[in-house]
Amino acid sequence: MSYTTILTETRGRVGLVTLNRPQAMNAFNQTMLTELFDALETFDHDENIGAMVVTGNEKAFAAGADIKEMAEASTVEMIRQGRVEKWDRIRGLKKPVLAAVSGWALGGGCELAISCDMIVASETAKFGQPEITIGVIPGAGGTQRLARLLGKYLAMEMVINNRTLSAAEALQFGLANRVVPKEKYLDEAIALAQEIAERAPMAVRMAKDAVNAAFETTLTEGLKAEKRNFYPLFATEDQKEGMKAFIEKRKANWKGK
Ligand code: CAA
Repeated sequence: MSYTTILTETRGRVGLVTLNRPQAMNAFNQTMLTELFDALETFDHDENIGAMVVTGNEKAFAAGADIKEMAEASTVEMIRQGRVEKWDRIRGLKKPVLAAVSGWALGGGCELAISCDMIVASETAKFGQPEITIGVIPGAGGTQRLARLLGKYLAMEMVINNRTLSAAEALQFGLANRVVPKEKYLDEAIALAQEIAERAPMAVRMAKDAVNAAFETTLTEGLKAEKRNFYPLFATEDQKEGMKAFIEKRKANWKGK
């Protein structure tokens, strides 16, 4: 499929999606949102792909939803179009998605980054939820995910008072896996994704699902979810191969089944 607002390519077993509306700081209009999730879902279903990376450009990962597109919208139009529900598609992805963030990750851009499974940031990255400055609140998960990731007070400050986090702060507060010089953030994210993409695919999928369960439920239910994902892996060839390879002191040869 050919896209107009994103670029896609594969690097080894990594599917790379680049947001490509630089004239609008990669603000999400409806087309870009649809194209982003179509591309990610296509990679998710491709057995030659083991992980995905979403990135923007050096200046902006993404500056949020397209304000010009929704400025005159009514509540009924927003609800009818399911404007913010569309972002939920990221939760359906089974393979890990990494955000490679440089520059602004604002509003829906920040919400996209924190919906991903890992974040590699350039030292120029800035994370924020400025919706309050335009008379609304985050609608693509920001209030919930930031509160869970950062705790109440910092999340509250970001959402209520437009507190922006620098890359160093994001790392300090656990909102990024690593921060690297701006020349390296994309290569670093792709290398990390490649490492993950080389691992046993079913185990990666089950592991992602189990960690995500921790954000949904009590510890007791989460531990049950973990067990539900642990035992079935003993029905995979890769479990037999992985343990045999360990015992034989050789590298495992994963089959993805
Ligand atoms: N929507 C539409 N256009 C946007 C945009 C957005 N979110 N962000 C930037 N742009 C456009 C600007 O209007 C400008 O276009 P023109 O050249 O046609 O005027 C162009 O991108 C460049 O932007 P700036 O001139 O503003 O660039 P800057 O370097 O001075 O500032 C910025 C960069 C700090 C990111 C600033 O553009 C900004 O604050 N953007 C808005 C951020 C924001 O409020 N995001 C929240 C959106 S609402 C949301 O996301 C809801 C949700 O939960 C889903």
